Amino acid sequence: MERIPEVEVIGEVADARQFNEFMGNNRFRREGYQQLARQAVAMGIPRCGKALDMGTGPGFVAIEVAKLLKGTEWQVVGMDMSLAMLGLAAENAAKAGLNGSLTWREGDVKAMPFADGEFDLIISNDSLHHWENPRAVFDEIARVLKADGKCIVHDSKRLQHWWPWMFVKIISLSIPIDFRVHWWNSIRSSYTVDELREILQQSRLQNWQVKEDFMDLTVVKEKVQ
Ligand SMILES: C[S@@+](CC[C@H](N)C(=O)[O-])C[C@H]1O[C@@H](n2cnc3c(N)ncnc32)[C@H](O)[C@@H]1O
Repeated sequence: MERIPEVEVIGEVADARQFNEFMGNNRFRREGYQQLARQAVAMGIPRCGKALDMGTGPGFVAIEVAKLLKGTEWQVVGMDMSLAMLGLAAENAAKAGLNGSLTWREGDVKAMPFADGEFDLIISNDSLHHWENPRAVFDEIARVLKADGKCIVHDSKRLQHWWPWMFVKIISLSIPIDFRVHWWNSIRSSYTVDELREILQQSRLQNWQVKEDFMDLTVVKEKVQ
């Protein structure tokens, strides 16, 4: 199946609100955010440092990371090109009592407003399939990540066979129609593991691995550059 790209930024207030409502109230999604945050922190990070959530949207993953690192000297930054999303992220952080330990930055992941080697940990969830130029983004990750920094980029993968699609269509019956279509479009605009490996090989990021499961793929960089 050919890749059908989605728009890069979720910039409209109504779209951002709808995303926030649905994802924030969905138990399975919330568990997914918590699991990714736990996986990132368990990769072995220093006692203090700086973490970045790229394409943070309403900040769900950044907030889960900040909860895990509460009481430490870690700083967590959530970045997105959508001001509508960042407004919701700040609201969500305030509701979780976490505004002090989180910073929200507007910016493009293709050209990040950060210094070389600024981050110890970089995370991203469900944003890769939106990026117009993923190779440029992985170059940027290589630049802003410390040499011994850790990175985890998680996304859906483009399903190539009828049986996982059948599974998606059946599960979709339990979610509102708007979100059903949104989910299918995300899958259609995602990468296959082979496509992602090719992009990573052309980028400046080193020591990466691509892991996959039934529906998703994850780029992990644990070793020193
Ligand atoms: C599907 S949402 C995922 C949000 C969040 N990570 C989550 O898991 O709930 C994708 C987000 O990536 C952001 N995004 C896409 N391309 C971007 C870019 N080039 N720079 C910054 N943010 C970007 C979008 O604006 C959107 O908020």
